[in-house]
Amino acid sequence: MSKVTIVGSGNWGSVAAKLIASNTLRLSNFDDEVRMWVFEETLPGGEKLSEVINKTNENVKYLPGIKLGKNVVAVPDLENAVKDADMLVFVSPHQFMEGICKLVAGKIKASAEGISLIKGMEVKKEGPCMISTLISNRLGINCSVLMGANIANEVHDVEGVELCGTLKNIVAIGAGLVDGLEMGNNTKAAIMRLGLKEMIAFSKLLFPSVKDSTFFESCGVADLITTCMGGRNRKVAEAYAKNGGKRSFDELEAEMLKGQKLQGVLTAKEVYEVLSDRGWTEKFPLFSAVNLISQGLLPPSAIVQHADNNSR
Ligand SMILES: NC(=O)c1ccc[n+]([C@@H]2O[C@H](COP(=O)([O-])OP(=O)(O)OC[C@H]3O[C@@H](n4cnc5c(N)ncnc54)[C@H](O)[C@@H]3O)[C@@H](O)[C@H]2O)c1
Repeated sequence: MSKVTIVGSGNWGSVAAKLIASNTLRLSNFDDEVRMWVFEETLPGGEKLSEVINKTNENVKYLPGIKLGKNVVAVPDLENAVKDADMLVFVSPHQFMEGICKLVAGKIKASAEGISLIKGMEVKKEGPCMISTLISNRLGINCSVLMGANIANEVHDVEGVELCGTLKNIVAIGAGLVDGLEMGNNTKAAIMRLGLKEMIAFSKLLFPSVKDSTFFESCGVADLITTCMGGRNRKVAEAYAKNGGKRSFDELEAEMLKGQKLQGVLTAKEVYEVLSDRGWTEKFPLFSAVNLISQGLLPPSAIVQHADNNSR
């Protein structure tokens, strides 16, 4: 009987735990119990988050109001959570994955399979590394990815799918800035169009095997549209522009997201490192502008100049 562990318990990790737990109950070749590693936190009332999840069957901080299934067990000790798992589902914010891999390496079954739901990448001197590759290399296991509404195996383009999920968060920051500047839907559409073009160009420069068609799947343009219309990157960027760039993204993230993490600002910074390193900043004016704005080096209005200059 295969055992599943979810590594991560934020908003998406909790959704994944709920869905997986309903499937393990139905499938006879899976152990009913699903372990969910919880990065332990003390709630305002003084209780531990993992204890409250196990008592109430609800992640009261990251997915309040939704019962996870009685077979979901929150485990605060990472080693204990992963040691017997046959299937490891990684769904932590990407910036914590390097540290998680260090703690998990050598502590898991050699036959374990990994699947990553993480949108993001690691930037190293030798070049960017997709999170699924980081997991495979560090843990010595196979790691697939699942993004948007697509299973990577079905489109045969793991890097393309993962890059769609990663890069759309930068475009969403641009879309949010335009919302905050109240520039209207035409300008926002121009940002989204440029963003998609830069997503495709950047992905193909890094991984020539990436297919154009991946960007027109649900994990590409559909996920980009949803994120630019309603996601948290858009929301915080809107507030950033409304405040004239005077309150930092870190401050707004802490205040507005209450523990949830923004991916777009860090991803823009990481992508910018790649662009600078390879002399590509001029080829990617939108990605560059989003980074320079979110680091406070350009005013929010710079996003509009870039859209305007480049959509002609
Ligand atoms: N939320 C979504 O709708 C959604 C959808 C698809 C994919 N994703 C991806 O899922 C991944 C996880 O995002 P999320 O929305 O579930 O997280 P989240 O932003 O809701 O929660 C942040 C999580 O990080 C944990 N954390 C904080 N500090 C930590 C540390 N030092 N080490 C380890 N963990 C720490 C918190 O306990 C919490 O579980 C991201 O890569 C994201 O891109 C999210």
